[in-house]
Amino acid sequence: MPSRSALVGFLRGAGCPEQKVTHCERVADVALAVGRQMQAAEIPVDLGVVEIGALLHDVGVAFTRDDLSPEHCALGADFLRANGFTETVARCVERHECIARPEAAELGNFPQPLRDTYVPETVEERIIAFADLMYFAVVEKRSDPWQDPDAVGRASFGYMDAVFRKKLGRAVPKTYPIFARVVALTRTMLVYVPHETFARWVAKQP
Ligand SMILES: [Fe+2]
Ligand SMILES: [Fe+2]
Repeated sequence: MPSRSALVGFLRGAGCPEQKVTHCERVADVALAVGRQMQAAEIPVDLGVVEIGALLHDVGVAFTRDDLSPEHCALGADFLRANGFTETVARCVERHECIARPEAAELGNFPQPLRDTYVPETVEERIIAFADLMYFAVVEKRSDPWQDPDAVGRASFGYMDAVFRKKLGRAVPKTYPIFARVVALTRTMLVYVPHETFARWVAKQP
């Protein structure tokens, strides 16, 4: 397995903005903590896949140069495939935005032909998507999903609404299925992340 510094060097070499490199390292720390908790609960988790996938999950931002372009998940996955990473790792990256195929078609700019889904399915894919959502909701939006699991759905709504306004020139419908999907993912994963553990981790953030 490549070292963490080699993977961070790969992100920088791809042209990932420095702020995203830091974000990827933090998300990888959360994802590994979640993976270890799940292992402790006797759930098989490949921590190597979790670490590589989480560290590289936003590599596609090197191509979009834009936070409001969900297609960075697919662009990043294809870039990893072209650079010899395993399909398992590429799929973790491709599925971290929790987007279903019809949503990818509506949003546009995804590489063609579209994949069957961009929704996380394997345990490693789900850990990475969850860690990314938690970082966004807790660290960036200062919400408390332990008290209110819908907080992650609301944080996701703010993001997707900005994406819709920019790309499609209209507000996102409240019924857009991605919100129920991220809330369901959060609810099932939160049991593996004690609030105190996460609070300790967040306290160390700059
Ligand atoms: Fe992302
Ligand atoms: Fe991310």
